[in-house]
Amino acid sequence: MLWNKKVLATLISCALTATTSLSAYAATTLKLSHNQDRTHPVHKSMQFMAKEVKALTHGEVRIRIYPNGQLGTQRESMELLQNGAIDMVKSNASELESFEPAYGAFNIPYIFHDKAHFYRAITGDVGEKILASSHDKGFVGLTYYDAGARSFYAQKPIKSPSDLKGMKIRVQPSPTAVEMIQLMGGSPTPLAFGELYTALQQGVVDGAENNPTALTSARHGEVVKYYSQDEHTIIPDVLVISSKVWDKLPADQQAAIKKAATDSMMYHKDLWTKMTDKAIEKAEKSMDVKFVKVDKQPFIDAVKPMHDKALKNPAIASYVQQIDALAK
Ligand code: GCU
Repeated sequence: MLWNKKVLATLISCALTATTSLSAYAATTLKLSHNQDRTHPVHKSMQFMAKEVKALTHGEVRIRIYPNGQLGTQRESMELLQNGAIDMVKSNASELESFEPAYGAFNIPYIFHDKAHFYRAITGDVGEKILASSHDKGFVGLTYYDAGARSFYAQKPIKSPSDLKGMKIRVQPSPTAVEMIQLMGGSPTPLAFGELYTALQQGVVDGAENNPTALTSARHGEVVKYYSQDEHTIIPDVLVISSKVWDKLPADQQAAIKKAATDSMMYHKDLWTKMTDKAIEKAEKSMDVKFVKVDKQPFIDAVKPMHDKALKNPAIASYVQQIDALAK
């Protein structure tokens, strides 16, 4: 694995050197890594964005998208970005929390009252401030993509926190996700998304939590048969660009990329709803997954201390207050 990573990093930086030396004569090509497959809505929304960037810059900036984690897991991709080997990454707030604590504000369970509240945050001032917060950590956020609400899935229904007792639940490598599972009474097991199918199949973990597209596009519904809709978090996907790359771009190209990114967030909004509905239908009809309605209150009560604690944490308190103020 380590060997592979090193080889990959070397190959990529050779390719990048070639691109850079040509850049006086040719277009700038930005490499974008993400871990979903080509049928996933977020891949399609980023294709939309790449097309718009090309049009707005008259072909001077092109974005080449590498899906399926082929350039590494989300974490490895962020490390490659910080080392200058790749230019853009589509990650999510959960994973980014370890690189920039501000993203942790999104990861607090039940912070959003509903989807409208979530959209007010990601399209408002607080959303922009969080995107801009990481410049000194080597990356700048460009936009958010809806990734729905996350719920538990396992071989049995999970209708209350007590059902999680003794269960190993895969989480993303995020301190907030780990704490959430602990407070609910389960055993958190951080793993990369790409390792999860096998981990579920081999019983390395007993369950996981994600939006319904994980059942279909990542095929977890082949292995796991109950999706219990407690909707504990609404965690956005986030498109980021290397600060070094960003700072070198002329203002008109920065404006074009920012506009295309924002437009693709709105394009994604409808696409996400349509494709999630389709994923649920496919999971139920062709994969035999049962969707279970859940009383959310016991889950909300179990994680209440997290919200209280966040309001006392200087790294995120002001973001949490601003998100809370957008609830109606
Ligand atoms: C979501 C998210 C991915 C993330 C995945 C995970 O699907 O869109 O960016 O990797 O959750 O649980 O790891």
